[in-house]
Amino acid sequence: MILFLVGYMGSGKSVVGQQLSEILGYNYIDFDDYIEQKENATIKTIFETKGEIYFRKAESSYLKDLSKLKETIVSLGGGTPCYGDNMKTLLSTKESVCVYLKASIPTLTKRLFNERAKRPLLAHIDSESMLSEFIGKHIFERAPFYEQSNLSIQTDDKSISEIVEAIV
Ligand code: S3P
Repeated sequence: MILFLVGYMGSGKSVVGQQLSEILGYNYIDFDDYIEQKENATIKTIFETKGEIYFRKAESSYLKDLSKLKETIVSLGGGTPCYGDNMKTLLSTKESVCVYLKASIPTLTKRLFNERAKRPLLAHIDSESMLSEFIGKHIFERAPFYEQSNLSIQTDDKSISEIVEAIV
């Protein structure tokens, strides 16, 4: 089985994915790290030097590589399911399960405000209220993709181990 974790930036995909892989004894792939290794550049540098369209095309093409894996947990990037036919790729992967980690706009704003410099899509936002408005609009656009997942988990009121347990 290959389990894809989807959700907005800051929704806990990486930390949940790591713990889940330890519990299940599966391999773990952080898809942002995978892209960085393949491209030999950080996501920030790829956005700055080659632009977002280049990144989205690379992301779609690397996603197809993953479909052959077994016993693996993959934490995707926040935008991965929302471009091209990526959601179709995820759902049509043999023995795949997509899990959406859902978090509220205030929770995401709180988590992302101090970390926004490393995220090219958020780095230019100056205040918490502007970040909250941006996230709200962005999730409105992205939710129809995220919601196609096989399972969705509301994470606001749960600890990491509770989320992991719910998925298991
Ligand atoms: C993005 C999310 C990031 C990374 C890139 C774009 C997005 O991943 O792929 O900065 O479009 O939401 P995380 O969700 O792991 O931060």
